[in-house]
Amino acid sequence: MSLYAIGDLHLHYQSVLKAPSQLRDRIWKKHEEKFRKNCEKLITDEDTLVLVGDHSWGRDLSECEQDLKYIRDLPGRKILTRGNHDMFWDVKKTQYLNELYNPELTFLQDSYETYRDYALVGTKGFTFEGPFYLDSRGRIMGWDEEEEAHAEKLVKRELVRLRKSFELAKAAGYRKYIMFLHYPPTNILEKRSGFTDMAEEYGAEQVIYAHCHGESRFYDSIHGEYRGRNYHLTSGDYLRWKPLKILE
Ligand SMILES: [Fe+2]
Ligand SMILES: [Fe+2]
Repeated sequence: MSLYAIGDLHLHYQSVLKAPSQLRDRIWKKHEEKFRKNCEKLITDEDTLVLVGDHSWGRDLSECEQDLKYIRDLPGRKILTRGNHDMFWDVKKTQYLNELYNPELTFLQDSYETYRDYALVGTKGFTFEGPFYLDSRGRIMGWDEEEEAHAEKLVKRELVRLRKSFELAKAAGYRKYIMFLHYPPTNILEKRSGFTDMAEEYGAEQVIYAHCHGESRFYDSIHGEYRGRNYHLTSGDYLRWKPLKILE
């Protein structure tokens, strides 16, 4: 029995693929097939796979049905969290999605799931991604402060959602946590953030995130041990479509 994670599948069985990197880069060529084969090799029906957002390019549920079927047909128990591109999944629709796909898929939002004696908590997260203003050597000389202020509001909202997830798990008696975000826990200007602080406050053992894809973004945030927690980037292209084992 093992717990795995991966994010940014960006499936597009029924939707128009607009991302140039996904059309151009070799790592994305037939990535659905590579990922399915890796899952079939690694994951058994006793295992749990957490998919940390950006599941589909579909603009609404009708454009995502085949993508969700593909996920449903993967081995193991599947838990999904929201990514910024998951247009089919408005927060208010979470209960509807859970009812529609029960028991095959679990949509985690403002709640928690369990794995052994761990609570799996999480939310989409958010982080300021610019625009940044660079000098001729590519060093950051400034950024759009209006965008930064807007991002700050979204970060606060996501921190409220994350705390709710932790608090529900804590009230149910859980004391061991794995924390899932779609966005990286810190942006390229930060060493720590409200998300790293919350991971520390509740004692989350691991923080799993995705969203950073394309080689130039792989090291935008924290990798490995930092202030007592372990941070892992799990975007699919970074993992070469092989889910990362989080726990035995
Ligand atoms: Fe993505
Ligand atoms: Fe994303």
